[in-house]
Amino acid sequence: MEVLKKYNTVLAQHLEKAVSKDEPKQLYDPIKYILSIGGKRVRPALTLLVCDFFDTDFNKAIPAALAVELFHNFSLIHDDIMDDSPLRRGKQTVHEKWDVNTGILSGDAMLILAYRFFEEYEPAIFKELAELFSETALQVCEGQQLDIDFETRDSVQISEYLKMIEQKTAVLLGAAMQMGAIVANASKKDKETMYEFGKNLGIAFQLQDDYLDVFGNPETFGKQVGGDIISNKKTFLYLMAEKRSTPSQAEELTHLFSINPTDPADKIKTVREIFIASKTAEDTRLEIEKYSNLAYSVLYEVNISEDKKELLRQFGKKLMERDV
Ligand code: IPE
Ligand code: IPE
Ligand code: MG
Ligand code: MG
Ligand code: MG
Repeated sequence: MEVLKKYNTVLAQHLEKAVSKDEPKQLYDPIKYILSIGGKRVRPALTLLVCDFFDTDFNKAIPAALAVELFHNFSLIHDDIMDDSPLRRGKQTVHEKWDVNTGILSGDAMLILAYRFFEEYEPAIFKELAELFSETALQVCEGQQLDIDFETRDSVQISEYLKMIEQKTAVLLGAAMQMGAIVANASKKDKETMYEFGKNLGIAFQLQDDYLDVFGNPETFGKQVGGDIISNKKTFLYLMAEKRSTPSQAEELTHLFSINPTDPADKIKTVREIFIASKTAEDTRLEIEKYSNLAYSVLYEVNISEDKKELLRQFGKKLMERDV
């Protein structure tokens, strides 16, 4: 994404040498592997961008940005175990390439490595970053647990789903942005507003992720298309389809989301047809727009120039048009 380009270039150099240890290889190789296969690096780039937007040298925010990206990648290694996902960023997932135990321990080590980056800050900033990080990380765990609980729960309300994605995904985008503001010594109000912006954009971001999981192009998406259907995830598309489809389709959907066939091809095909027939894609687009607009609406309160606010809006728009 164009606005993030200059931050991503700097980040790539730092990420390459973010983990200095090599042995035991079984522990560190997977960490280097997941960091080397890319990803959009949206969160750490936002940490740098926000610091920059508050007129502070963005290099000061690099340790915080690295902490955010290491945490994110840790959560992906464990998420791929929990979701039984074979593909990440177009490559084998860590637990597929190595094994589940390796994924668990490499993930744990990454979480610790992430925290360590905060040690590079003076005590007051350290404390503020670490507190925000701990609170956020715990919320991510809570969201992840709900996501798993919902797989086997018959009835999930849209409001519960929205709370779940706020926790598993959106708070980290909020925290990533707030960290940039913390490093830049922004006002309390500005820090809170950047968090709100990131959080609302994060909700829209997860809705788009759910959409791509069903309708993404397998050639470019980088993850297994249909993975959420295979796992019986109660995504926004599923919950809307439940409401919008005919009684017989709804019954079929409920049935399909209670089974785990060895060959999921027919299940994915039928569910996708029901999603299309009940126009869930349109509902998802509207919901994405709603949360994007909510994000943009808090911007008027922030102490940055109108040009910078426009860049943030453009960034939000690009993020919701993405196909990976
Ligand atoms: C994937 O995040 C996990 C979600 C919260 C949807 P990203 O889509 O940011 O993944 P990468 O880092 O770009 O691969
Ligand atoms: C992941 O949600 C959120 C976290 C990793 C905490 P998903 O399970 O939808 O993410 P993907 O689709 O595997 O990237
Ligand atoms: Mg997953
Ligand atoms: Mg998941
Ligand atoms: Mg997903």
